Amino acid sequence: MSTLIRGGLVVNATGAVPADVLVDGEKIAALLAPGFPIEADRTVDASGKYVIPGGVDAHTHMEMPFGGTFSADTFATGTTAAAWGGTTTIIDFAVQVKGTSLLTTLDKWHAKADGNCAVDYGFHMIVSDVNETSLKEMESCIDAGVNTFKMFMAYPGVFYATDGEILRAMQKARETGATIMMHAENGIAIDQLVAQALAAGRTDPVEHGLTRPAELEGEATSRAITLAKVTGSPLYVVHLSAAQALDAVARARDTGQNVFAETCPQYLYLSLEDLARPDFEGAKYVASPPLRPREHQSELWRGLRTNDLSVVSTDHCPFCFKDQKELGRGDFSKIPNGMPGVEHRVDLLHQGVVKGEISLERWVEISSTTPARMFGLHPRKGVIAPGADADIVVYDPQTRQTISAATHHMNVDYSAYEGMELTGRVDTVLSRGRVVVDGSGFHGAVGHGRFLARELNQYLI
Ligand code: URP
Ligand code: ZN
Ligand code: ZN
Ligand code: ZN
Repeated sequence: MSTLIRGGLVVNATGAVPADVLVDGEKIAALLAPGFPIEADRTVDASGKYVIPGGVDAHTHMEMPFGGTFSADTFATGTTAAAWGGTTTIIDFAVQVKGTSLLTTLDKWHAKADGNCAVDYGFHMIVSDVNETSLKEMESCIDAGVNTFKMFMAYPGVFYATDGEILRAMQKARETGATIMMHAENGIAIDQLVAQALAAGRTDPVEHGLTRPAELEGEATSRAITLAKVTGSPLYVVHLSAAQALDAVARARDTGQNVFAETCPQYLYLSLEDLARPDFEGAKYVASPPLRPREHQSELWRGLRTNDLSVVSTDHCPFCFKDQKELGRGDFSKIPNGMPGVEHRVDLLHQGVVKGEISLERWVEISSTTPARMFGLHPRKGVIAPGADADIVVYDPQTRQTISAATHHMNVDYSAYEGMELTGRVDTVLSRGRVVVDGSGFHGAVGHGRFLARELNQYLI
């Protein structure tokens, strides 16, 4: 099956050029001069539209066990929603439970995802038990295409790792070429603040934000950077939300250290005011790190321009308001942490182009090209070029849309962006040459998505 995408503006991270794109089977075969005389089995009209590489969301949590429940999207529903929103690759997190093996964990995540995804997927590994066995198993994970290991300086008693454990994992990363991903919040200090708030009867969702101050994200980020420097390990700071943490990352990068960071749409568009919504509605906005006061947002946009923030991922981790967020009514610390978003990342970042915060090319870079390079998927993913997988989004930059839970495809009963008006929308989506979304609906299939064994980080300084 061949497809010709006619008349669009092809936007890559490196530049934008009017071109027709010829797809043959699962791959991009050629970029052609507009109107080049050639026939294909199917033609997609992209006039007046952008033709961009499919989105790469490097941080999702489908059916993740957390806080006594599971995130509400399965791999099937979550990857289908991703496709609707122009994301054709996700990288999800396998979660090691303390006392269990990394390889058993990886098998378990394959069993959940294999045959159940609508778009291609890879895994990172959450390491919550650092010991001789798990350090050795990191090598086998890398051989199996999972070479990024997330650790937590937050959540004592659950995922928390001590500085010593982090140091040992980073030494292993240095030795193997792996990258350590860090959830950088000082969980030991935060737990004290949480206990004090609850003891004083402060139980509302806003307390989640007030007990996790930005300084404690800044401090943990600096500490992670120091440990990475001592060990020589590359470090990728996940879901960075605070200006203090961004400062630490920028300083490290200025010295040439292999430190990278992502932020998420919720930190660019939502704030502590949302966490403070009355009648427990703030629970919809509970995620960690927490939403910050608005002042942080302009700093994050600046970081996206300077490349101190290299990637935007969603940290998609949906919990229904009715039956899951409810677990924390009367005790904010029991609200499952996480927010939905996998469907709207590409659209939300396009608003940055509309508002002049980032260029068209930068939009593609932070949502597709850099995550593909950072996580060993480039040049298969992240670029419109001959030989690349035909993961392609035809994006209509003019049409307006309003986000709503009534129309989204994620398996969750609310939208964090309910009523938000956006300029631009996804028109047509191809995943490895197959049209999975177009104006007439969803034409993909659960099971179409394949596991991506990833190469090592291709983005090192
Ligand atoms: O609140 C969040 N971010 N939930 C997902 C787990 C994590 O820490 O990324
Ligand atoms: Zn995290
Ligand atoms: Zn996460
Ligand atoms: Zn539910």
